[in-house]
Amino acid sequence: MRLTEELRRALRVTVDYTNMTDKYLGDRGISQKVLDAHKKLAKEAHASVAANRGKDELFMGWTELPYNQGEIVEDILATAKEIRRKFDYFVVLGIGGSALGPTMAFNALCHLHYNDLPKSRRKGPKFFVEDNVDPVRMKELLDVIDIRKTCFNVISKSGATSETMTQYLIISDLLAKAGENVKDHVVFTTDAARGNLVKISKELGGVKSFVLGDGVGGRFSELSPVGLLPAAVVGIDIKLLLKGAAYMDKLCKTADLRKNPALLSATLQYIAMKDGKNIGVLMPYSDNLRYLSDWYAQLWAESLGKNKTLDGRPCNVGQTPVKALGVTDQHSQVQLYTEGPFDKVVTFLSVDSYKEKSPIPHGCESIPDVAFLGGHTMEELIRAENKATAYALTKAGRLNYTIHVPEINEFTLGQLLFLFELQTAYAGAMLGIDTFNQPGVEAGKKATFALLGKPGYDGQRAELDNAAPDPAYLV
Ligand code: PA5
Repeated sequence: MRLTEELRRALRVTVDYTNMTDKYLGDRGISQKVLDAHKKLAKEAHASVAANRGKDELFMGWTELPYNQGEIVEDILATAKEIRRKFDYFVVLGIGGSALGPTMAFNALCHLHYNDLPKSRRKGPKFFVEDNVDPVRMKELLDVIDIRKTCFNVISKSGATSETMTQYLIISDLLAKAGENVKDHVVFTTDAARGNLVKISKELGGVKSFVLGDGVGGRFSELSPVGLLPAAVVGIDIKLLLKGAAYMDKLCKTADLRKNPALLSATLQYIAMKDGKNIGVLMPYSDNLRYLSDWYAQLWAESLGKNKTLDGRPCNVGQTPVKALGVTDQHSQVQLYTEGPFDKVVTFLSVDSYKEKSPIPHGCESIPDVAFLGGHTMEELIRAENKATAYALTKAGRLNYTIHVPEINEFTLGQLLFLFELQTAYAGAMLGIDTFNQPGVEAGKKATFALLGKPGYDGQRAELDNAAPDPAYLV
């Protein structure tokens, strides 16, 4: 795709916040006065994010990913080409920030039944992301791949995540038993020096490895080798993805709330949160974007769910992300959104032009309930249902806004990723918290170490044993 300025403008992702305003929601909407009253806070959040850009020590290295990976991208493209040449299967082993991005990009930009297509119609090997330690899932993955023809991308910043390293132990054992050299079947994506995978790489005699920079946390890592290598393997244009991110970054340079889509979204969400809207629904009207909600859920939840401010004051903030899919969840959750508690903000992701239109043939002429559909397209239907749901929510006084995606491609996906990342950084700054740590996740990781007897966790093991369920409460 040759990106002229005109094309960039045509493919620009935009935010329409009409249905958040009192003009359309009456007393339940946000007035201009309230928005104006938050301008100063928004400006400060914008300044704080701008001042901390690129600072590894503050985990803000991700802001520079669209700009500082020239050589890395070339290395990724060459490695992906080699993987495509040598292997029939590509399996990502990772969890959380190391898995949600690769799954999301694959689903957004590849055929929805990619793995079922014949080899001639796929741009790369069959693709899997294994992000759980469900023993059944592991066994059944092994039923459908041939490990001798598989490349495993082990993605772990620490190399100490029990889930990922368990998977690694299993596949390296199987590869060795199959007479294969483990080193030839793995690519590591990890910390430059500190992670255990660095040690393992040395032991194996130097595994092809990519670095996850110090200032890039898991949930902000999709535009680093964490996401770029898996994407390149299945033929996604990673340079265009990065260009999309850079374009959104440029749009968000201004501190003017009305011109900066990420700052506007963050401010609207902040105002809503302060008003008790503790649930944020992300509802893409696109199967291709359904896993964007999973990726976003981690970004928003892990970044904003905190119990103290940066200056140490206790707080319990955050907004619970809920994943919904249009139109599927119209027949499941939308009843609650329309008539349940006033505790949600619904964000629609609307696609202006789908890559398929799927005309609906005429038929069933004697049945008016069905006949009216003939002559339209499925694109018209899904877009109409999206508009109708936004209208119904607005009529019911429910806060909702729409992110318009002109079409789904690498350039627009890159914009969306950066939009949400910046939105999260701004919202965290407004809440005055550390957006980039995850002490709550670490606590669970440590408790698992204790339960499985990792040395050094005996104290916690005793505590956990004492917390065994009281039989008196079992029914
Ligand atoms: O966002 C995060 O930081 C987490 O979700 C991590 O990505 C996840 O816990 C995996 O950690 P690691 O990359 O060290 O294996």
